[in-house]
Amino acid sequence: MIKIGIIVGSTRPGRNGDTVAEWVRDLAVKRGDAEFEVVDLRDFDLPHLDEAFPAAYGQYEHPHTRAWSERIASFDGFVFVTPEYNSSTSGVLKNAIDFLYAEWADKAAGFVSYGVDGGARAAEHLRQVLGRVKVADVPAQVTLSLHTDFEAFTDFKPAAHREETVTTMLDQIVSWATALRPLRTAEVAA
Ligand SMILES: Cc1cc2nc3c(=O)[nH]c(=O)nc-3n(C[C@H](O)[C@H](O)[C@H](O)COP(=O)(O)O)c2cc1C
Repeated sequence: MIKIGIIVGSTRPGRNGDTVAEWVRDLAVKRGDAEFEVVDLRDFDLPHLDEAFPAAYGQYEHPHTRAWSERIASFDGFVFVTPEYNSSTSGVLKNAIDFLYAEWADKAAGFVSYGVDGGARAAEHLRQVLGRVKVADVPAQVTLSLHTDFEAFTDFKPAAHREETVTTMLDQIVSWATALRPLRTAEVAA
């Protein structure tokens, strides 16, 4: 069965990201067409990129890189739950993406962004970055507003219509992750 990782893109104390990721996971697991797991960057404690070789070489020196590689390699697609920091995604998520290469390739991804203005700029930057590591990014996107989907900027109360967009996004991720499977299989076999 297709396996999708829901990546929490914030490690900040008091973050909103974990609550948003759990909301996506709780909606996703009601489907029966894929498995969904939350991936928390806090669990990997990655330093600023400290590998001597670019990730495309696949020669990882450090145990933290190998643990991160193993986790990401286990998925067929991703939901990136990203905050908007200064009109982009978080540094910690960009750094985590930079650590790997082949583990992202030929997989599908969608975005759940959040911020004062819905975090759309963060998701747009992520689309550009992920294109470089051969991720197929789906068009459906969930943009949560700190003004209307949260109370007091912290108490997550998503508008009812958001669930429909999550469903559309997950439909697209699962179908593209499935369609890209022959490419992933060919790369493993090569
Ligand atoms: C360093 C920093 C920069 C931010 N910049 C933006 C921004 O440019 N646009 C925006 O809409 N919100 C911005 N925000 C608000 C965050 O999107 C909001 O605090 C969000 O909850 C952060 O995600 P987190 O709580 O999961 O860490 C910023 C917050 C921080 C901490």
